[in-house]
Amino acid sequence: MQRQALAWRRAGVRIAFVPTMGYLHSGHASLMQRARRIVGPAGKLVVSIYVNPAQFGPQEDLSRYPRDLPGDKALCSRMGVDCVFVPGTDEMYPPDKIGNHSTYVLETRVSSSMEGSSRPTHFRGVATIVAKLFNLVLPEVAVFGAKDFQQAAAIRKMTADLNFPVRIVVAPTIREPDGLALSSRNNYLSVEERSQAVVLSQALWLVARRVSRCKSGVPASRLKAGVSRMVAARPLASMDYIEFFDPATLEPVQRVIRGTQMALAVFVGKTRLIDNALL
Ligand code: PAF
Repeated sequence: MQRQALAWRRAGVRIAFVPTMGYLHSGHASLMQRARRIVGPAGKLVVSIYVNPAQFGPQEDLSRYPRDLPGDKALCSRMGVDCVFVPGTDEMYPPDKIGNHSTYVLETRVSSSMEGSSRPTHFRGVATIVAKLFNLVLPEVAVFGAKDFQQAAAIRKMTADLNFPVRIVVAPTIREPDGLALSSRNNYLSVEERSQAVVLSQALWLVARRVSRCKSGVPASRLKAGVSRMVAARPLASMDYIEFFDPATLEPVQRVIRGTQMALAVFVGKTRLIDNALL
C-alpha cells in the first residue's frame, strides 16, 4: 500500500482516504462521495477495511463485529473507489525480533470523556491505527463520519499535534427515515430493539427543540434528567451516558444553549449505539 501511495504521490496524484471497519452502508458511501469530490476524477480514492482489535475492549463485540468483504468490495466498486486496502492483523501488528507491537498513540485531551470513559482503551486503539493507516496510505485528505463526533475530534487533534500532512474532513451523519443514525452495529438489533433504537435521535430532536425555544439556555442537569426518563421508558434501552459540551473543546457545559453539542450512548438490548448533534 505504501509503495503504491508513494508512486502516486511522486506522480503528483492526489490521494483521498476513507478508513472503515467494513460492513459498508450508505453512510460510508457518502464519505466516499465527499472524498471523491475533494480530489476529483484524476485523484485516487482509497478505502481501508480493517476491524482493528486494538480499539475493542475485552468484553466488547470484536469477534461478532459484522463482516461482508464481497458486499463491501461491490459497494466500493459502485462508488468508483480506486483501491480497497484490506490488511490482516498479522500485517498491521506484526511481531518483530524484539516482540509484539509496543508503540501506541494516545490523545489525552478530547479523548478522556464520554466514549473515552466508557471504553478506556478505545481511543488509544483508534489513534494508533489511524496514525498507521495515514503512514501507509499517505493521503492528502481523510474523511470521517460526524456520527463518531468524539473520534473525529480526537483524530483532528492527533493529526495537528503530530504534524500529519493530512486534512481531516468530517461529513454529516446519514440517517434512516425515522432518524436512526446509520451504523454497522444496527445490524445486531432485533425487530423490537430496532423500534426502540430511535430513542437516540428522538432525544436529540427533543432537546434541540427545547433549547431553540429558550434563548437564555436550559440547565444541562434538567435536560439530562429528561432524556434519561425518555430512555428509561423504553424497556429494552438503558442509558450509558449523555453529555452537553462545547464542540470545539469538548469541555462540558452547565447551561445548554444554541451551538452546544449533545452526545449520548444508549444500550438497546446488548447493542451500544451512539449519536450526537449540534443543537
Ligand atoms: O470509525 C471507524 O470505522 C474506525 O474507528 C476507524 C476510524 C476506521 C479506525 O479503526
